[in-house]
Amino acid sequence: MNKKIFLSDGTEIGNMGIGTWYMGDSPNNRNEEIKSIRYALDHGVTTIDTAEMYGNGRSELLVGEAIKGYDRKKLFIISKVLPNNAGKNRIFQACENTLKRLGTDYLDLYLLHWRGFVPFEETIECMEELKRKGKIRRWGVSNMDIYDMEEILECPDGENCCVNQVLYHLGSRGIEYSLKPFTDNHNIPTIAYCPVAQGGRLRKKLLDSAAVKNIAEKYNITPIQVLLSFVLNQENMIAIPKAAQVKHMKENIECLDIKLSQEDLEILNKEFPAPTRKMPLDIE
Ligand SMILES: NC(=O)c1ccc[n+]([C@@H]2O[C@H](COP(=O)([O-])OP(=O)(O)OC[C@H]3O[C@@H](n4cnc5c(N)ncnc54)[C@H](OP(=O)(O)O)[C@@H]3O)[C@@H](O)[C@H]2O)c1
Repeated sequence: MNKKIFLSDGTEIGNMGIGTWYMGDSPNNRNEEIKSIRYALDHGVTTIDTAEMYGNGRSELLVGEAIKGYDRKKLFIISKVLPNNAGKNRIFQACENTLKRLGTDYLDLYLLHWRGFVPFEETIECMEELKRKGKIRRWGVSNMDIYDMEEILECPDGENCCVNQVLYHLGSRGIEYSLKPFTDNHNIPTIAYCPVAQGGRLRKKLLDSAAVKNIAEKYNITPIQVLLSFVLNQENMIAIPKAAQVKHMKENIECLDIKLSQEDLEILNKEFPAPTRKMPLDIE
């Protein structure tokens, strides 16, 4: 069951979405990628995360193709604007291009991909203008640390920031120390990217760890499913694993029904402890 996460405007979304980085890059994988996205949509996972950066628009194009024929109202589409495009001279065209590639006339959520040189005030003003024009329903940010979030919240309309999308997985828990408590306090849910550490590649020891292996055995699931279940177990957090292969997508959706016990979490915490000091924000 997809746990519900509430955005500050009252909108409910499930705690798992579909990551799409690198999707659309290779013509050979295209059919399987579309099947995988549709498998998720057909099984109640209706949040899709993409970005103008991914494959220079190829991911948005692929998503556009995958969602053809689906009821737009039931989807929650997220895309991201590049920092260089996030000022008043470029953002409106960038958003138009994104909408065109996706084949839709609005985004449910538009994120500033990471902090660049355009002042937050200007980006926020533009985001609010895009909302008024009906091009986006709401906006948020990505890769922001606590200092950035403090600055954003001090800007006019900064309190309309809906989410912060950051890297989070069992082997990279830095945000738990102060960033996540801060955003939680401000009613800003976290979207966790790389929730399965890019198939374990980001932290080699994750998949080989005794803790992960034992829990996988206990539930008859794979170590990757343990990683995803750990993220899905967090409060006020949405995981957006990317699975270009249907069999992976299927396994990921199965994780919505896995509830790790307190004992499991203690075992994982012992091997991959929560941070005890402020850590720099990980991006890989
Ligand atoms: N805001 C940002 O700056 C930012 C940065 C990075 C990512 N993101 C977003 O977050 C999404 C997720 O991050 P990510 O794609 O980097 O990493 P990820 O979701 O942690 O890992 C994706 C990799 O794990 C594999 N995988 C997925 N499920 C699996 C399973 N059940 N068993 C075995 N392998 C599995 C995938 O294989 P297959 O694809 O072959 O199935 C793929 O190689 C991205 O796609 C993107 O939408 C955002």
